[in-house]
Amino acid sequence: MTTPAPKLFDSDKIILDLCGGTGAWSKPYADAGYDVRVITLPEQDVTDYIPPKNVYGILAAPPCTEFSLALNGHPERPRDFVAGMMPVNACIRIIHQSMPVFWALENPVGLISRWIGQHRYIFHPWMFGDPYTKWTALWGNFKKPVKKYTDRTAVMTGDQIIRCRENRKPQDSGTRKQKSIKRSITPPGFAKAFYEANS
Ligand SMILES: C[S@@+](CC[C@H](N)C(=O)[O-])C[C@H]1O[C@@H](n2cnc3c(N)ncnc32)[C@H](O)[C@@H]1O
Repeated sequence: MTTPAPKLFDSDKIILDLCGGTGAWSKPYADAGYDVRVITLPEQDVTDYIPPKNVYGILAAPPCTEFSLALNGHPERPRDFVAGMMPVNACIRIIHQSMPVFWALENPVGLISRWIGQHRYIFHPWMFGDPYTKWTALWGNFKKPVKKYTDRTAVMTGDQIIRCRENRKPQDSGTRKQKSIKRSITPPGFAKAFYEANS
C-alpha cells in the first residue's frame, strides 16, 4: 500500500517568479498566501540562481528584447540572440532542476520559437478584460487559463478600439523605454485566470 502524499497548505507551496519584474504574474499567488519568490534584476540574477527544494510552480518571463518582431522600435539594431537566450536558458535550467507541479514561460509572439519551439497557448490581454492588444505566448506544463472574452469590442470602447488597432496600450505615455517596461508588465486579468487554473 502506498502512503498518500501529505497535503500542502498554500503557505508551503513555493512559487518562483523568474525574471518577474514587478511580480504582477505571481501577485494572485502572493495574495492567496503562497510562498512567492520573485527572482529578478537588479536584486537577483536567474543565471546564477539555485532553486530551493520542493518548488510547486514556476512562472518565467525572460526579456523579449532580442526576439521581438518590433525590436522595441529599433529595426536597424542587430539582434544578439546569444545574449537574449542567456536568461531563457537559465529559466529552463531552473525548471529542470526543480521539476515543479506546473511551469510556464511567457514571451510575446516573436523569434524565440526558433529556439524553444512552438508555443502551447496564445492570448491577447483583452481576452481577460485588460483593454489592450499584445499577442503573448506561453510554453510549458500548465492548465490553460479560460479566456473570458472572444470579442475585443466587448472589452474596449471608442478611442480604446482605435488605439488598439494601432497596437498601442490605452493611456500610453512616457519615453519609449518607459512604455516598453509598462507593456512588459503581466496583465492582471490574465494573471488571475492563470492562478485560477493553476492553484
Ligand atoms: C519581460 S520583463 C517581465 C516583467 C514582468 N512580467 C512584470 O510583470 O513586471 C523581464 C524582467 O526580467 C528582468 N531580468 C532581465 N534579465 C534578468 C536576469 N538575468 N535575471 C533576473 N531578471 C532579469 C528584467 O529586469 C525585467 O524586469
